[in-house]
Amino acid sequence: MTYRVAVVGATGNVGREMLQCLAQRAFPVSEVVALASDRSVGREVSFGEDDELSVRDLAKFDFKGFDIALFSPGAKVSAVHAPRAAAAGCVVIDNTSHFRMDPDVPLVVPEVNGHAIARHTKRNIIANPNCSTIQLVMALKPLHDEARIVRVVVATYQSVSGAGKEAMDELFGQTRGIYVNEPVVNQLFTKQIAFNVIPHIDVFMDDGATKEEWKMAVETRKILDPDIKVAATCVRVPVFIGHSEAVNVEFDEPFSEQDAREAWAGMPGVAVVDHRADDGYVTPVECAGEDDVYVSRVREDPTVANGLSFWVVADNLRKGAALNAVQIAEALTDTRPAIAAA
Ligand SMILES: NC(=O)c1ccc[n+]([C@@H]2O[C@H](COP(=O)([O-])OP(=O)(O)OC[C@H]3O[C@@H](n4cnc5c(N)ncnc54)[C@H](OP(=O)(O)O)[C@@H]3O)[C@@H](O)[C@H]2O)c1
Repeated sequence: MTYRVAVVGATGNVGREMLQCLAQRAFPVSEVVALASDRSVGREVSFGEDDELSVRDLAKFDFKGFDIALFSPGAKVSAVHAPRAAAAGCVVIDNTSHFRMDPDVPLVVPEVNGHAIARHTKRNIIANPNCSTIQLVMALKPLHDEARIVRVVVATYQSVSGAGKEAMDELFGQTRGIYVNEPVVNQLFTKQIAFNVIPHIDVFMDDGATKEEWKMAVETRKILDPDIKVAATCVRVPVFIGHSEAVNVEFDEPFSEQDAREAWAGMPGVAVVDHRADDGYVTPVECAGEDDVYVSRVREDPTVANGLSFWVVADNLRKGAALNAVQIAEALTDTRPAIAAA
């Protein structure tokens, strides 16, 4: 069985990575089309080592006859075109925030709640969680299976690629400019991002949290457990690829560091690298291009009852976005490669 697949937002950070994941994991395609805005029509994007796809205009594309559409064109564009694709009979896997909290749309990390995929039939849409949520729930799930998590406090260190290709250009341009004494120009970010950190991702909400912080809390509850309390602080850092998180967890019963290590050992897609030596932990530079979610700096937190602290790092464009979407497509079509099913 082979599938006709559309990649929407194919010229963007996530879309290009989706094409790469489809090719690398040999997803059984009979046809792949690359779609973006009318600005990109005719541009070429790579599909695997040898193929180039000519970009077509999303607005003029008819999804009839296509089996799966992987969407990452931004929330406003998905809001208009994902339902159009779904109505044409194509299952949409959407990377934007638009449908995530819709009760009729499953929000899925296959290793965590793959069973929820079956509930996609109402709208023909499956949502991919926020990049920071994905790596957090990957690390929390095996712990929560062993001892109930009551509360999570998380601070993120999010790379600029999470804000799109223009954000990467802004970090590059500012960094280069500062070395040659050019004035710093902020276009996408609200403050200078080069040699700085910005505690502000997405818009502010009425309670003082940012929408990114709200997303981490509500998405974690939708995927893992509606009772988990999550306090998040989301920070943009001058890193190109790879999100990091400092996580503090409180359980409702004693749960040791050793218990946590044993729980993670059985979790596909999570690797613990934690040697308490100079290079015995993972940083974002090392996880770029990797599929796993890496856990380091594991230790009990003696300042609260049943507390555990750790560090978690993942490639936000792969497991945080494109890879997760392709894994959903594999689960949907039951074409998971042996490596992912293990
Ligand atoms: N980056 C991440 O880590 C990450 C993780 C999870 C989710 N997401 C979400 O995924 C989405 C895309 O992120 P990104 O990082 O790939 O952004 P990006 O690099 O800025 O790419 C945006 C893509 O959307 C396309 N697009 C924009 N307006 C369009 C329109 N009117 N019609 C059709 N296509 C349009 C762009 O095409 P043109 O080149 O033609 O403008 C481009 O292909 C966002 O909603 C983001 O929140 C991102």
